[in-house]
Amino acid sequence: MQENVIPHTFSIDRNVRRALKKHNAFLLWFTGLSGSGKSTIANAVEKALVEKQIHTYTLDGDNVRKGLNNNLTFSPEDRTENIRRIGEVANLMVDAGLVVLAAFVSPYQKDRDNLKAILGDSNFVEVFINTPVEECERRDVKGLYAKARAGEIKNFTGINAPYEAPKDPEIEIDTTEVSIAEAVEMILTHIENKLSINE
Ligand code: ADX
Repeated sequence: MQENVIPHTFSIDRNVRRALKKHNAFLLWFTGLSGSGKSTIANAVEKALVEKQIHTYTLDGDNVRKGLNNNLTFSPEDRTENIRRIGEVANLMVDAGLVVLAAFVSPYQKDRDNLKAILGDSNFVEVFINTPVEECERRDVKGLYAKARAGEIKNFTGINAPYEAPKDPEIEIDTTEVSIAEAVEMILTHIENKLSINE
């Protein structure tokens, strides 16, 4: 079937859209355990970017797993499919000219490698929120660690399902050592040149 899908060449491409928005577009990918602070930091970064007139969108479990991916579980296969679909959606948004922020546990190295393949290396910035599991469990914002300990959640990342830490993330943040404001500053400094349309 797919061999008969032949892309049309549109006259408006990503460069035209970037020029219109006056900034570059790419994906900022936040990976880390549940409760590590991914969404909190992503939201704070998005706020700072919008103040600089950057066009953004944030994808996270709340808007994706309840809609587009509401047929997926937390089995390894479904997590892989979750991340693949998010990567494809983010790729379209980057093509549309947006700086996309995505906050997902994404525990498998191969799934994060696949994101790089979908987006292209230069459009993908990996941010590892490396808050220790003990701290995430202590926070237990959603009460899920307690449920996992009680055996009510079978494959909970960090408790009874694996988390494969990124080997070479562009940015690494431990929220027990770095404040949210400092984390935002680190990320903004890192992407400053990348945001420029001339890069
Ligand atoms: S991922 O592994 O497929 O990337 P995703 O980021 O979409 O996960 O969703 C993780 C969120 O779903 C967690 O922050 C947590 O609130 C909730 N959750 C529910 N069950 C699990 C589970 N078994 N493992 C991890 N997170 C879970």
